[in-house]
Amino acid sequence: MPSWDWAALAGEDLPEILAIEEAAHPYPWSEAVFEDCLRAGYRLDGAFDRGQLIGYSVVMTVLDEWHLLNLCVDPAVQRRGAGRFLLERLLESAVAAEASCLLLEVRAGNRAAIALYESAGFADIGHRKAYYPAPNGREDARVMRRLLS
Ligand SMILES: CC(C)(COP(=O)(O)OP(=O)(O)OC[C@H]1O[C@@H](n2cnc3c(N)ncnc32)[C@H](O)[C@@H]1OP(=O)(O)O)[C@@H](O)C(=O)NCCC(=O)NCCS
Repeated sequence: MPSWDWAALAGEDLPEILAIEEAAHPYPWSEAVFEDCLRAGYRLDGAFDRGQLIGYSVVMTVLDEWHLLNLCVDPAVQRRGAGRFLLERLLESAVAAEASCLLLEVRAGNRAAIALYESAGFADIGHRKAYYPAPNGREDARVMRRLLS
């Protein structure tokens, strides 16, 4: 695996975050949403390749439950292990913080993300009908959880 760095992100990283977000997501978060996340004290962590941000995660912690709100890798470097790198670092941190689980919602049709989550030990715990906007109406979400204790 390449020698990537993993570090907490802050407001100064927003331009790089937004460039990746807009390139990678069909319905990207706005700058205001990321600012709200930072203001609310959510965890924003990034993967860096020689100082260049290549991906990030956003996590809301509620007591001992960690909720993964966003996981995103620059399309230019997808499929090279950065998504797994970010998820593994996060799981290690969650275990160190004695979190009980990592939860997430994912588009039911997002095969890449679902394959990553399943291979990292996440299992379905729910289904939200018409949760996400989609080109032809709405798309369902799968709610997945990885238990940590
Ligand atoms: C999902 C995402 C974060 C994966 O990041 P990535 O760096 O490309 O993933 P990795 O290279 O670490 O791959 C890890 C595993 O994910 C799965 N995977 C990743 N891309 C895949 C694809 N295009 N098709 C099928 N499986 C895929 C595979 O199981 C892969 O393991 P393998 O390479 O050993 O087969 C990335 O595709 C992304 O940013 N997508 C857009 C944003 C998004 O949908 N985020 C998830 C929101 S819940």
